[in-house]
Amino acid sequence: MQRRIVLLGPPGTGKGTQAARLCLSLKIPHLATGDLLRSAMKRDTLIGRLVRPFMDTGNLVPDDIVITMLKEAMGPLQGYLLDGFPRTVAQAESLKDAINKVILIDTPAEVIEKRLSARRICSQCPAVYNLDSNPPTKDGICDGCASALIQRIDDMPETIQTRQRRYWQDTAPLIDYYKKAKILWTIDGGLPMETVTVGIMAAVETENG
Ligand code: AP5
Repeated sequence: MQRRIVLLGPPGTGKGTQAARLCLSLKIPHLATGDLLRSAMKRDTLIGRLVRPFMDTGNLVPDDIVITMLKEAMGPLQGYLLDGFPRTVAQAESLKDAINKVILIDTPAEVIEKRLSARRICSQCPAVYNLDSNPPTKDGICDGCASALIQRIDDMPETIQTRQRRYWQDTAPLIDYYKKAKILWTIDGGLPMETVTVGIMAAVETENG
């Protein structure tokens, strides 16, 4: 069976970090709606201009825009790992039968707040660092491409709060949605990165019950 996996969980729980590791190991493409949207903003496309006010304030981009963008990126792919999608019941409905495993990475809010405040990203390549748990070798410089590290605009304290609120209001109902479908597995995201990866891999290899 093709692997069609969703990584679910609050902002900063480690979806992107774990997705990169899993996709390497499982050899499936990583589709992250946050990355697709940030790329559209960087290229200053029409969609990029439309979504900027939502992204910069930590609010959800309207369903029709995200669903269309994701479907385009999925194209004819048979296996994939989705990171950051679905985020609403309407988005989940748009994927009916196209998902066979959902991994919820569950992390306490206070841990998340610390992690997001300490996150730094490369201004040029996809590398992600953390000043506490995964610092770069040289302050402010990407180990991979030597470009400057920056802070995501939505990692400012007020915006972090809005993103958390949106998660609990709009996305958390998906926990029950996928529990009912019997395809949800929950992993403790407060543990070290390696331990989280081991837990997710075990869930991925176990049959749904
Ligand atoms: P998106 O880019 O998806 O952001 P997010 O869900 O808020 O998630 P993050 O990227 O902030 O966190 P993450 O869980 O990937 O954690 P990470 O691995 O980086 O979305 C951004 C915006 O786009 C949304 O707010 C919305 O506007 C829009 N959007 C996107 N998808 C949408 C959709 N479907 N519908 C509508 N709007 C949408 O880790 C965080 C930090 O912690 C890093 O520094 C990392 O190094 C560190 N870390 C990770 N794991 C650990 C660990 N186990 N221990 C210690 N440190 C760790």
